[in-house]
Amino acid sequence: MSDDEIFLKSKKVWEDNLKLFPHTKLRYPDENLVRLMSGKYVPVPKPPAKVMDHGFGHGNNLWFLADKGYECSGCEISEALIADVNELFSKIGKPVDLRPVEGLKIPFDDNEFDIVVSWNVLHYNGTRQGVIEIIRELHRVLKEGGILVLSTVHPDSSFSDRMKDMGDGTFLIEKENPHDNRQGLSFFVAGSDDELKELFDMFSDVKTGYIYTDLFDNSERNAWYLVYAKK
Ligand SMILES: C[S@@+](CC[C@H](N)C(=O)[O-])C[C@H]1O[C@@H](n2cnc3c(N)ncnc32)[C@H](O)[C@@H]1O
Repeated sequence: MSDDEIFLKSKKVWEDNLKLFPHTKLRYPDENLVRLMSGKYVPVPKPPAKVMDHGFGHGNNLWFLADKGYECSGCEISEALIADVNELFSKIGKPVDLRPVEGLKIPFDDNEFDIVVSWNVLHYNGTRQGVIEIIRELHRVLKEGGILVLSTVHPDSSFSDRMKDMGDGTFLIEKENPHDNRQGLSFFVAGSDDELKELFDMFSDVKTGYIYTDLFDNSERNAWYLVYAKK
């Protein structure tokens, strides 16, 4: 499948997702992102630094960042999510700059942001080459010394139970799951921390981390790689 086909398929999945599974809409920010942005685990620029949320979804993390006082921007492949999150920000009375993504390019200028957050997005650009292109783009829009905070799917995730190995890090979501519409998507999944780290070699400092949760249902376990990378 070409990067264009992957993009269009993924766009359709996320446009439909909001209509098909409205009850799964996320209202609260991710606990681990809250810890990273608020604790002393890694140095992060303080508000009012400029943040861009790549693939902001329901805007739950972006809302948290705006509430902390960051100047917020974001990009999404789903126009429906952009409209939804613009409405959320007008309700809370905070400014935000949300832009649509077409293909692999990120619709912001070079060296614009102090922080880029990409939370559970990278793997949807399902080939090694596609993912490398996105990482180059995330790097491009960061200022010198800016930081990227990213999570992406780990092989320990229950997605592995549904995936067929297509080679070179591409995995097809083959099996249906009644709780989502992601069957037919291609994910890129790095096989190890070292393999993932290598993809970020244009950054000056790269650290990897790991999140695992099993909320009493092993068939829905979550496992994520974390990446902290400084330009
Ligand atoms: C699993 S959701 C994560 C949403 C949000 N970041 C969060 O953590 O709640 C993945 C999101 O990434 C978006 N997405 C996928 N590929 C993208 C790309 N290349 N650029 C921007 N957004 C993308 C999808 O539309 C979807 O909203």
